[in-house]
Amino acid sequence: MCDSVITLPNPAAEPGGLAASVAKVFRQVSSSEPRLKPFQLGSIPIDPPLLLAPMAGHTHVGFRTLVRELGACGLVCSELISSHVLEHNPKSRQTRDLFDWSPAEWPFAVQLFGSVPQEMATAARLVVEAGAPIVDINMGCWVPKVAKKGCGAALLSDLLKAEAVVRAVCEAVDVPVTVKVRIGFEQGKPTAVSFAQAAANAGAKLITVHGRYAKQGFKGQSDHSVTAKVKETVGSSMAVIANGDIVDTESARMVLQETGCDGLMLGRECLRRPWILAKMAHELCGKPLPDARFHPARIARRQFELTRTLVKKPEKVVVRELRGQLLPYRLGAPTDHNRPERTELEMELRERLVKAETFEQMEQFLLEAEEKTWAK
Ligand SMILES: Cc1cc2nc3c(=O)[nH]c(=O)nc-3n(C[C@H](O)[C@H](O)[C@H](O)COP(=O)(O)O)c2cc1C
Repeated sequence: MCDSVITLPNPAAEPGGLAASVAKVFRQVSSSEPRLKPFQLGSIPIDPPLLLAPMAGHTHVGFRTLVRELGACGLVCSELISSHVLEHNPKSRQTRDLFDWSPAEWPFAVQLFGSVPQEMATAARLVVEAGAPIVDINMGCWVPKVAKKGCGAALLSDLLKAEAVVRAVCEAVDVPVTVKVRIGFEQGKPTAVSFAQAAANAGAKLITVHGRYAKQGFKGQSDHSVTAKVKETVGSSMAVIANGDIVDTESARMVLQETGCDGLMLGRECLRRPWILAKMAHELCGKPLPDARFHPARIARRQFELTRTLVKKPEKVVVRELRGQLLPYRLGAPTDHNRPERTELEMELRERLVKAETFEQMEQFLLEAEEKTWAK
């Protein structure tokens, strides 16, 4: 059964086949790995507790569906949506594009950001009415456009307001509310521990901790010792998910051990290897699953197909965005190396990819890439 998952039969030809078989493999796997126990968010099972991180510009419904199909992904999350825009300009095109979830993705979270409790409450009600089974509050975004307005990670330097936002959202909706934070705002001032306790008291059911301060952006390495303190503090009152620089089974194992957390969230590595959660789930249970068993160009083509079908934007826009979304695969590069040098084939494919203008050209390119990289 494993082999059919790994060598990737055309998932389009077998609706449900791929995801169903991985789910079955994972159920056997997760029950034998004590640190990877499924848990419940209210009545929603998070099984396995391996989560795809929200990444604006990448984790649209097409990509999320791909990761789900590849297996071992317990929860996905929408890109961040502004509560201010939702309340004041709910019909804006940009915001409507972000309402892209489909019931097939269940369970999924819809992420909101904002700093005004009443606006966040209204936005939460709106997304729940539109089908969101979980609402996630962004308190990790560090980009000035968000943080300068007191939203995202800036809330970590105003814990009273942060708690008021969580409380308002929890009181507004009857679905589980989760929060995603950095370890603090200013470097060296870890506020995530006291915030986590306040968030649990206010009704949040899960907290994801990215092990960097907001002021670091993406610099330096994640420090998971604060996440360990968060878990120690909140105990079983709230699930704790560790995030940041988890890129392979070894780092996953180390973070699980260091933090005692309930699950892991992966971001950038999923863009490079969308099958990483499936690989990790197997390997955490001592079942090696080499990258060579996956075929990146074929998976990239599946991402293209899902994106073309599910993302409701004009063709030109989808193709332009896909160029950037498919680059991290590094088609033509050896997959079993961490940071391989660019080969001639990779350079050639990269050049072709960024020139694709239409769905037809993109599909043709991906078919050729698949042929050229087969068994490489
Ligand atoms: C391109 C990009 C977009 C991101 N967008 C969001 C977002 O919309 N909401 C959010 O909470 N975090 C966002 N993040 C942060 C990730 O969810 C994650 O916390 C971070 O990348 C660290 O995890 P990693 O080391 O596994 O990538 C984004 C990260 C990247 C690289």
